[in-house]
Amino acid sequence: MRIAWLGTGLMGDPMARRLLAAGHEVAVWNRTAERTAAAVAAGARAAGSPADAIAGAEVVFAMLRDGPVTAEVLLAREPAPDLAGRAVVQMATIAHGESRALAAAVAEHGGEYLEAPVLGSIGAVEAGQLLVFAGGEPALFERLRPLLAVFGPEPLLAGPVGQAATLKVAFNQMIAGISAAFCLSLGIVRRAGIDVDLFMRLLRQSAFHTKSFEGRLPRYLARDYEHPSFPLALLLKDVELGLGEAARLGLDASGLEGVRALAAAGVERGLARADYGALYEAVDPAGE
Ligand SMILES: NC(=O)c1ccc[n+]([C@@H]2O[C@H](COP(=O)([O-])OP(=O)(O)OC[C@H]3O[C@@H](n4cnc5c(N)ncnc54)[C@H](OP(=O)(O)O)[C@@H]3O)[C@@H](O)[C@H]2O)c1
Repeated sequence: MRIAWLGTGLMGDPMARRLLAAGHEVAVWNRTAERTAAAVAAGARAAGSPADAIAGAEVVFAMLRDGPVTAEVLLAREPAPDLAGRAVVQMATIAHGESRALAAAVAEHGGEYLEAPVLGSIGAVEAGQLLVFAGGEPALFERLRPLLAVFGPEPLLAGPVGQAATLKVAFNQMIAGISAAFCLSLGIVRRAGIDVDLFMRLLRQSAFHTKSFEGRLPRYLARDYEHPSFPLALLLKDVELGLGEAARLGLDASGLEGVRALAAAGVERGLARADYGALYEAVDPAGE
């Protein structure tokens, strides 16, 4: 298929390259043009603007930072992208209301809209193992399912537009919460002079252990937050999306408020582009 890919960041770049490897024709656009180099080397056409990328496409994928950026890139640029007759697939983590507003705007421009957020990071993209869950019309989902299956083996339909966005936010607030909880436990163990290996041995035998703790433990121990797979600023965005969803649904999210304060403190320390493992730095600042 002829595809426009908007956003070749940490996730968007390897995702666009999977479409190329699957034999699709892909035009890529990114605000920072240099970040399209790997996709171009893999056979993509570098587009000069979103409108240029979209011009020849049957399907438009957006994997941008957030809802406001996605709306601006798709709807508020000159020259205006022509969305008529095209399917727009929004894959970033954005709010329920933002996704529904995008769907309405795309329909006004004569296009169709599917939200398809993903669970999993760069390693899962490279392995084709992302968990892909969509929100939108069943017929559109069925038509796009083969494309979504390029990213993960079993794309699912969660419900109408907004439901998959909400589901993704439900997952990410949990990731933020368990990560912050682990960082505090590790900080307590280390500052109290307890053997970290002993702590981990017991944790591994408990019902509370998760693979995600193991993945970030070396970063916490070395205070190494370089080469992010998921930047701290985006975790903060997702925590804020979680607070918004909780408020919309009348839930008490005071537990998440503390996580927001930690993520915001890390961002204030200049760690916005660091891996979200830098939450540990907010919990247990080096040298303090
Ligand atoms: N990383 C993960 O593990 C992961 C997993 C699942 C979902 N997600 C979600 O996927 C989305 C992309 O995340 P990512 O990890 O790929 O982040 P990223 O590397 O920071 O990429 C963000 C993308 O948005 C673009 N962008 C940011 N601000 C912009 C603006 N004002 N105008 C135009 N473009 C702008 C960036 O362009 P530049 O290159 O010019 O900055 C880049 O293409 C986010 O919603 C994130 O929450 C991430």
